[in-house]
Order: sequence, then structure tokens, then C-alpha cells
Amino acid sequence: MHCQSLYSFSVSPFNASESRFYGASSAVQLFRRNVAGYGGFMIKASREANNRAISDIVFEPFEEVKKELLHVPNVPQASLARQKYTDHCEFAINEQINVEYNVSYVYQAMYAYFDRDNIASYCLVANSFFKESSEEERQHAEKLMEYQNKRGGKVKLQSMLMPVSEFDHIEKGDALYAMELALSLEKLTNEKLLNLHRVADQNNDVQLADFVESEFLAEQLEAIKKLSEYVAQLRRVAKGHGVWHFDQMLLTNGVAA
Ligand SMILES: [Fe+2]
Repeated sequence: MHCQSLYSFSVSPFNASESRFYGASSAVQLFRRNVAGYGGFMIKASREANNRAISDIVFEPFEEVKKELLHVPNVPQASLARQKYTDHCEFAINEQINVEYNVSYVYQAMYAYFDRDNIASYCLVANSFFKESSEEERQHAEKLMEYQNKRGGKVKLQSMLMPVSEFDHIEKGDALYAMELALSLEKLTNEKLLNLHRVADQNNDVQLADFVESEFLAEQLEAIKKLSEYVAQLRRVAKGHGVWHFDQMLLTNGVAA
């Protein structure tokens, strides 16, 4: 009599000596002594089921948790949550936090520039676009900080560089110049994110790679595409009145990069 299953269960006459073999060490406890319908027979997993070749898929909860228990730190300075999170990944996340804050800071400088009374008279773009972009970059930094803590790393904030405060450009005008600068910043951020993803790959950190992909990479492409379109439009309208029209369009439809 044979039962079909994943482990090729079989029923055979009960043998006391075999019970030692399949007893405590077997991952699948299948003894059924004196069970109605089986009489003096027992159900056992085939010997293949005990083969260590398939041990990777066998869950031995009490044995495995003992190993994990040894790794739970008991010093107050160490994170309890940290698991398979290397120093390289922790460092790379802190670097990316700094990138996001620096980009946010540059957008703040642009916002402050275009908010000046003599600039805003013809260009209100800063009041929405650059301000929102700055806030969004800061949110990216905060998201990375939350993730750092979630993985059991330590957030180490670094100093930020002083951004330029003037964005006027003789040939391009300030709107186009600032938008080209914004496009360059987003491309640079994309490169840094790809570096972060590479560090995750090199350290076999699937969760960090997934976090970067799902929370940042797709959105970064959207930002680059949008800024590329803005730069192309500003190049066509040149300076002056055309920029005012562009500005009106952004005030109506503008979303941060
Ligand atoms: Fe960002």
C-alpha cells in the first residue's frame, strides 16, 4: 500500500528498531501507532526525506532558533533588529542621506532666489516647483533614515556644502540655467542611487536592493524625464516673455521633480 505525496510516504509493518531512526531526528514525525485503520502499521517518510541533500528546505524550528538565539546581542549599544546588514551597506545609506540633503539644500537656494521680489515679478516658478522639490528631497533623506534605523544601522548626518545663491546666466537666463542645474542634480542623484544598489548587490543584501528599486529608482527616472522636458521647453521659449508663459504653465501643472 502506498500513498502519493511530496515525500513519498509509505506504510509498512511497525518495527521498533526503525522507530529510533525516524524518531527524534526526523523532520517529519509520522508515527501512527495503534491508529484506527492502520493497526500494527506505521506511516513513515521515505529515507530520501531524511537525506541531508534536501535539508535546506527542512525547517527544524527548535534547532534553528537556538543558533539565532546565540546572535541576539545583550549589550545596550547594539541593535536587536540588525540581521545580515553589513557595515558597507550602513555606510552607503548614510552617504545617500547626505546626497539627498545636499540636493534639497540646492533647491532651497533656488527657491530663495526665485522668491526675490525683483525676480518673482516675472518668474514665480520657484514658489511652487523648487520649493516642492526641496521638500521632496528632504523626504527622501528621511525615508533613508527610517530605513537605516529599521535595519539596525546608525544614522550619521554629515555636513552640507554651501550652495550658490545666484542663478542668473547671461546667455541662458536664470530659469533655463536653474532648470539645467536641477536636471544635472537629478542625474547625479540617480548615479548615487545606482551605486547604493551596487553596494547592496555586492553584499548580497536583497532587502536593501529591493528598497532602492521600489522606493527610489523608478521615481528618479520620472524626475529626470520631467526636467528634461522643462529644459527643452525653456530652450525654445528663450528668455523674457516666453519664460513667463512657461512659469504660468508650471504654476498650473507643476509637480516637484
Ligand atoms: Fe531624491
